[in-house]
Amino acid sequence: MVTGIDVERVRRETAGVGRVVHLNNAGAALQPRAVVEAVVGHLRLEEEIGGYEAAAEAAGRIEGVYDSLARLVGAGREDIALVENATRAWDMAFYALPWAAGDRILTARAEYASNALAFLQTARRHGVRVETVPDDADGQLDVEALRAMVDERVRLIAAPHVPTQGGLVNPVAEIGRVAREAGAVYLLDACQSVGQLPLDVGEIGCDLLTAPGRKFLRGPRGTGFLYCSPRIREHLEPPFVDLHAATWTSADDYRVRADARRFESWEAGYAARIGLGTAVDYALAVGLDAIGERTARLGAALRDRLRALPGVRVHDRGARQCAIVTFTVEGHDSRDVARALRDKGINVSVSLAEYARWDFDDRGLDAVVRASPHYYNTEAELDLLAGAVPAPAPAGG
Ligand SMILES: Cc1ncc(COP(=O)(O)O)c(C=O)c1O
Repeated sequence: MVTGIDVERVRRETAGVGRVVHLNNAGAALQPRAVVEAVVGHLRLEEEIGGYEAAAEAAGRIEGVYDSLARLVGAGREDIALVENATRAWDMAFYALPWAAGDRILTARAEYASNALAFLQTARRHGVRVETVPDDADGQLDVEALRAMVDERVRLIAAPHVPTQGGLVNPVAEIGRVAREAGAVYLLDACQSVGQLPLDVGEIGCDLLTAPGRKFLRGPRGTGFLYCSPRIREHLEPPFVDLHAATWTSADDYRVRADARRFESWEAGYAARIGLGTAVDYALAVGLDAIGERTARLGAALRDRLRALPGVRVHDRGARQCAIVTFTVEGHDSRDVARALRDKGINVSVSLAEYARWDFDDRGLDAVVRASPHYYNTEAELDLLAGAVPAPAPAGG
């Protein structure tokens, strides 16, 4: 059962809402006070007793971060690796896959730039083929087209759960079924969905899932994690190893550790990790079902407001939509729109063609304004945004 969110309370616990109308949660959300206090508390401990000693004293809390993330995504604690951001998580998994010339990678038209760049680099290095699955009529990855494309050469199926540049939610469990039937590895980019939508790696059927802490999870910057299924872990040799990822067992031999921490490195920002764990616990306490329900409702309410404005075009596609809302204003560069809103204390961001070129080229767009409410935002803040969008400018003006 979805129970409501105490919006007044979560706003009281979020210092930033008193300063800005923050509708850039797809960039980095406002952190709850508890997260900031956890980070600062650990930094203070490091200041007072030393970094290694502080880590030893906080060992229980640091280990607890794995339990929190495992609960969040329905995994085991040994399936979680902590890294600096979503791209590092994704790269550690992707570059661990063994490639042979002629292998095929299937991905979405909406794929994120950094992932696409890694595909293109791997195609150049190893002669693998990168192929995109067409969108369906709603703009999501077309699952039937995917099913028709798979064969025994498909080594990897990759997709964003929610793309960076629009509000659609891909049918990730259906993609998982095709991946399983095909025997392909399934790598899900959950960058924009973790903390926004309830998700369970077992239901989705992904082998690998990557996400950052700073976006809808409301954690500190410089945090991210990888889920790696035990099913494939031992077959994935990390692209680089250190003395944390592996043990130097004899003069010319080493053994890679068995758990997902084989994708980590020894040195880490423990204050940030503790902040991440606090953010995950906070999200779990608010409730992911309730968060998913409220964020989708705020996204839809914002789209309604924007559609009612002259000269504004909303660009989100998808049969199922979430809290990422993208739009353009006739006669205005999207960067100028975002700047004008920022000057009025309203934070949004801009998605540029180079962030997701296949999708932007398909749609003939070069940039969109991206507004992304979270559960702590209010309808009154959506009104403020709608009221601050510049009026359309005459063509050529
Ligand atoms: C869909 C998607 N994937 C990956 C990333 C990269 O995440 P990070 O900046 O944490 O590496 C982003 C960032 O915006 C994203 O939106």
